[in-house]
Amino acid sequence: WPQLERLPHPAHRIPFLGDVLGVDRSTPVQDSMRHARALGPIFRRKVFGKEFVFVWGARLAADLADESRFAKHVGLGVANLRPVAGDGLFTAYNHEPNWQLAHDVLAPGFSREAMAGYHRMMLDVAARLTGHWDRAEAAGSTVDVPGDMTKLTLETIARTGFGHDFGSFERARPHPFVTAMVGTLSYAQRLNSVPAPLAPLLLRGATRRNADDIAYLNRTVDDLVRARRTDSGSGSDSGDLLDRMLETAHPETGERLSDENVRRQVITFLVAGHETTSGALSFALYYLSRHPEIAARARAEVDRIWGDTAAPGYEQVAKLRYLRRVLDESLRLWPTAPAFAREARQDTVLADEHPMRRGAWTLVLTPMLHRDPDAWGADAERFDPDRFDAAAVRARPPHVFKPFGTGARACIGRQFALHEATLVLGLLLRRYELRADPAYRLKVTERLTLMPEGLRLRLERRTPPA
Ligand code: HEM
Repeated sequence: WPQLERLPHPAHRIPFLGDVLGVDRSTPVQDSMRHARALGPIFRRKVFGKEFVFVWGARLAADLADESRFAKHVGLGVANLRPVAGDGLFTAYNHEPNWQLAHDVLAPGFSREAMAGYHRMMLDVAARLTGHWDRAEAAGSTVDVPGDMTKLTLETIARTGFGHDFGSFERARPHPFVTAMVGTLSYAQRLNSVPAPLAPLLLRGATRRNADDIAYLNRTVDDLVRARRTDSGSGSDSGDLLDRMLETAHPETGERLSDENVRRQVITFLVAGHETTSGALSFALYYLSRHPEIAARARAEVDRIWGDTAAPGYEQVAKLRYLRRVLDESLRLWPTAPAFAREARQDTVLADEHPMRRGAWTLVLTPMLHRDPDAWGADAERFDPDRFDAAAVRARPPHVFKPFGTGARACIGRQFALHEATLVLGLLLRRYELRADPAYRLKVTERLTLMPEGLRLRLERRTPPA
């Protein structure tokens, strides 16, 4: 950034430490949102001597979506996950050959046909959630929304991805795999909050625990893969992602994923595929419980399209247009993967205004891009699913809604997440009235992803129309 000094930054800079006044280390995203509101569509923050540039203005973000001049940058939180996920899809550098190979081998695993195959398994997992919620409702107790959504999404990706069952709904405490995974995510976030050279000293105990967590994740996944290899010798074919990884050769080169790469992809899918979707479901349930008129409209759509079918089919989920808008609107206000990084492929000028050298990079702060009044209007902070009806979408400029990132490295699991979340929201709305605690104030926790902390709901079973 040759003209970095022209970008605004927070007012009170401290030598060496930088812009850390009033910073809460546990909420870096919401701190950045606060700065964004004060400093405008592009700004910088200095942390331990390093400057980070943030972009959220719609015009700037749209320019960064130009794939001919910009690409994904693997830095910060993403780079901190390299010890866990290596050259897996999410953490691979653009130039690593395993990215293209795994992308080509795995893309059909997220096609419409593949998704229709996962639908049945998603229904089975959802039935375990409603069983659990029925018991809570009968006992008159409230339910732990983020906790239960995390169980649901973990079981869904484990089942559809790898035919595995972590037994989350049957356990009083999270499965050790979940504890280890959450541990590695929190550690990756903490690494950003201390100066890199001091990390080994300041985080000594945590670093040791992190190494143990990674070893445990690797061991568990290796066992899973070994079991599948033994199984497939006996001719079993579950048609899930793991089968695909083990058996599919690249359509042109005939190359296959190595064992080590398969391990990394499995961990990647388990991590990338569950916390983000769990957060999306939790925020949607928060808004539905706070807006009874929106919940009633979504519920009427579910009743109309599903009727009294016990188990809605794949196509019947895609038809829930209004409920999808509720989900989109929740992901607009709280995109649960709240930032992505873009780097310049060559020397260029961002939006004809800000010169960037090749390799210079910036973080797109999605929750603020999604609130830019230039794109979303003066009432951008208000929850309103009608922003996603077809006419409203057409009237907006492109590239202003990016909860799944952008370009070649955008989320491969987008359709998977949307199908799963719409299905589950439909099932829950059809089965229960959701009662919010009027005293609850939305508090967002951050551990690389966003989640509504402490959200509990009271349920009332309803009788669906005959
Ligand atoms: C990439 C968000 C669900 C797997 C991404 C990126 C975002 C994102 C923003 C781009 C990151 C970047 O540019 O650095 C989300 C959200 C989800 C979700 C908000 C749920 C609501 C899923 C699911 C899966 C998944 C269910 C797998 C089943 C991945 C993978 C990548 C990715 C593998 C890396 C793709 C690549 O670089 O080739 N996701 N994701 N995600 N996501 Fe998701």
